Amino acid sequence: MLAGKRIVLGVTGGIAAYKAVEISRRLVDAGAHVVPVMTAGAEHFIGATTLSALASEPVKTRLWDDPDTPIPHTRLGQGADLILVAPATARVIAAYRIGLSTDLLTNVLLATRAPVMMCPAMHTEMWEHPAVVDNIAALRDRGVHIVDPESGRLAGGDTGAGRLASPEVIVAAVQRLLSPGDMAGLRVVISAGGTREPIDAVRVIANRSSGKQGYALAAEAAERGASVTLVSTVDLVAPPGVAVQRVETAAEMQSAMERLAPVSDVVVMAAAVADFRPVTAVDRKLKKHDGVPQIVLEPTPDILAGLGARKPRRQILVGFAAETDDLEANARRKLDEKHLDMIVANDVGAPQTGFQHDTNAVTIFSPDAPAFVVPLADKRTIAAAVFDRVVSMRVSAHPT
Ligand code: CTP
Repeated sequence: MLAGKRIVLGVTGGIAAYKAVEISRRLVDAGAHVVPVMTAGAEHFIGATTLSALASEPVKTRLWDDPDTPIPHTRLGQGADLILVAPATARVIAAYRIGLSTDLLTNVLLATRAPVMMCPAMHTEMWEHPAVVDNIAALRDRGVHIVDPESGRLAGGDTGAGRLASPEVIVAAVQRLLSPGDMAGLRVVISAGGTREPIDAVRVIANRSSGKQGYALAAEAAERGASVTLVSTVDLVAPPGVAVQRVETAAEMQSAMERLAPVSDVVVMAAAVADFRPVTAVDRKLKKHDGVPQIVLEPTPDILAGLGARKPRRQILVGFAAETDDLEANARRKLDEKHLDMIVANDVGAPQTGFQHDTNAVTIFSPDAPAFVVPLADKRTIAAAVFDRVVSMRVSAHPT
């Protein structure tokens, strides 16, 4: 929630200016007080009346002609919790980078100590121009929060990178910045999906994992303020603010996890890792006339057990267990053998749970604690239950 937060919403002159109206509406719905500022360019694209109607006060456009606020640029910037510029054109980005104040918005940007978030939107050629790339890098270095544009349809029927991020993504970024949750400052790495082990150039040994539970965990941790990386075998849409490292095989997942885990506060292995892989993958397609192939398998490394053996002292390591029988005994054995702080066990044979469903039902085990049952719920609710326990574990291990 953004209750009590004062946000100056700067709107500059691009076709995406119309989306600022929706951004404003969503921010107001979340409880923020939105002060809209439009540049002269923005006025070519949307009417001030429309934006005023969906913000918390009338649009401000000029430095000089407001009798109620004689020096609006300092007043607006001083009282703000955030200056959000959406869309941000190449012009405003360049002006802000070099400290050039030419209108009310660029003055507000300079006369503030509030955090600044910019949401660029422009044609692909402009977005990729070295001058723009350089300006964005300089602003990022200065601590400006940049919400990267998406790829998609642009004005004039072109397609490419440069489309303003969706209002949903922008508002989620604002929420993350202004309402740090109970996981703020934590670095979290989560594996998701099922690994694929090549047999030949076209065939793999795979499993039924959809990756949905891993992505729900990532969305939940990010919304609670964590900095999250997903190590994923699937191409689901990444939750806002979550970095994705794409992998395919158990070996690739292992090297990504082993690189990220030592610098993470919380590690969650939600992926279904193949336990066996072909000893050799044929680099061409096996043909029928070659006869029935003899595929010789070897075990894959147990990634989680390796992470448990080298776990940094304050890290919380969470595993998953897919079971069809003896759930508690099997889960507690894995908890112990892999040196975990928590294991989330699900009965993959039960209806509506586990692989490919949107819902799950789990039992969470931790050393020396009674089992905690989370009945059938959507995977985001399961994720929330997991991180509730992670947070309380951290608090009891390191009380402030
Ligand atoms: N896991 C792993 N590397 C493997 C196999 C499993 O990191 N090669 C992780 C999974 O991501 C999960 C946990 O270990 O977090 C338990 O996985 P599961 O398949 O339930 O158990 P296994 O240890 O593979 O044992 P079994 O298949 O005999 O039940």
